[in-house]
Amino acid sequence: MSQSLMTAYKDAVATPIGEARCLPFALYHDRSVFAPEAESLFHNDWVFACAEAKLADAGDYFALEIVREQVVIIRGKDGELRALSNNCRHRGTPLLDLGFGNAGKNIVCPYHAWTFDDKGSFRGAPFAGEVAIEKDDHCLPQYAVAVWKGLVFVNLADEPQPFSERIEGLDAYLEVFELDRFQHAYHLEAEYWNANWKLAVENGIESYHLFKVHKETLETMTPTKQAYYVAGSSEWTLTGGAIKDERSTLTKWLTGSHPEAYSQYVLLFLPPSLIAVIDYEGMHWIQILPTDAEHCEVIPGGLSQQPVKNFDSPEFQFTHAFLAEDKEICERVQRGMHSQKGEGGKLVSLEQILVDFRHYVGNRLFGTCPEPFREGERAALFLDPK
Ligand code: FES
Ligand SMILES: [Fe+2]
Repeated sequence: MSQSLMTAYKDAVATPIGEARCLPFALYHDRSVFAPEAESLFHNDWVFACAEAKLADAGDYFALEIVREQVVIIRGKDGELRALSNNCRHRGTPLLDLGFGNAGKNIVCPYHAWTFDDKGSFRGAPFAGEVAIEKDDHCLPQYAVAVWKGLVFVNLADEPQPFSERIEGLDAYLEVFELDRFQHAYHLEAEYWNANWKLAVENGIESYHLFKVHKETLETMTPTKQAYYVAGSSEWTLTGGAIKDERSTLTKWLTGSHPEAYSQYVLLFLPPSLIAVIDYEGMHWIQILPTDAEHCEVIPGGLSQQPVKNFDSPEFQFTHAFLAEDKEICERVQRGMHSQKGEGGKLVSLEQILVDFRHYVGNRLFGTCPEPFREGERAALFLDPK
């Protein structure tokens, strides 16, 4: 990172609410900025991987790339969930295909068929001849894994921070939604956006753009002007809002114990990459994984009470429609970020969540002090249900 850009980044992410401005444009495409972000945020923090419900049986796995690192989450025959390096210990070939699958009895490399078990232990190498391959020296490295509310997270750090610290205080705000009811998971195809990951995150977490970008889609259900800040800090943030649909008439059919939550949603941002909208009927997320300084993968998924039977339903057409709107606007902004003359302006109150995101980045990249925890005026709605 060039010294002046690093200084500009450090100053920008430390700015308090009210003073905060759009980040310097170069931070959205400079490769020397992206490298420390990948290292400090994606290779040293808890990154969302997938829904645990998709990994129910022995051998079930989800393989993903976390900024060029090949990782697989796999259910062992002993029932344990593990996160392993997905690089073969022979010559580095990615072992299991990206996405979901079942590894069968063992993990077998597609190149020369070196074999590892579901704990990552080396099992054998065909045609090894006279060469002694030390078993203990050829196992797949294991990473830390955590499961929370049916979601699986992985941390590639050598000494990971306990996951419980990352979500401290969060559960209390989510009790009204009774998330344990959501046992069925879906993951949609990954999308590839020509946009820096921070643009995709910022767009995913702020409700300011709904009235303009999503006039015909999200704005009709979750209008900008009914969005509010619930609670948060640099570690996680919840915003919320009213759901404007037929739910008032649906209420009498819902059977939960917190009817006051039926007409509200919360948007959870667990940096660096998970953005989840939660309401009484389910949880729907996007997972944002950067591939380089100007591209990211966006993977939608969710949890619900009933299995999804039809991915062509109006509900999923709606999801595809608003994601297409987001992709288009993010790619448009990305073009703007290359301007040498352009300069961004102040953030408005509805963009407070962007400031939390910056404080997260600032803490990890520059070691600036964590921002104190804040609650919005509507926090009690979730904490103290009537
Ligand atoms: S690279 Fe995996 S067996 Fe050779
Ligand atoms: Fe959007």
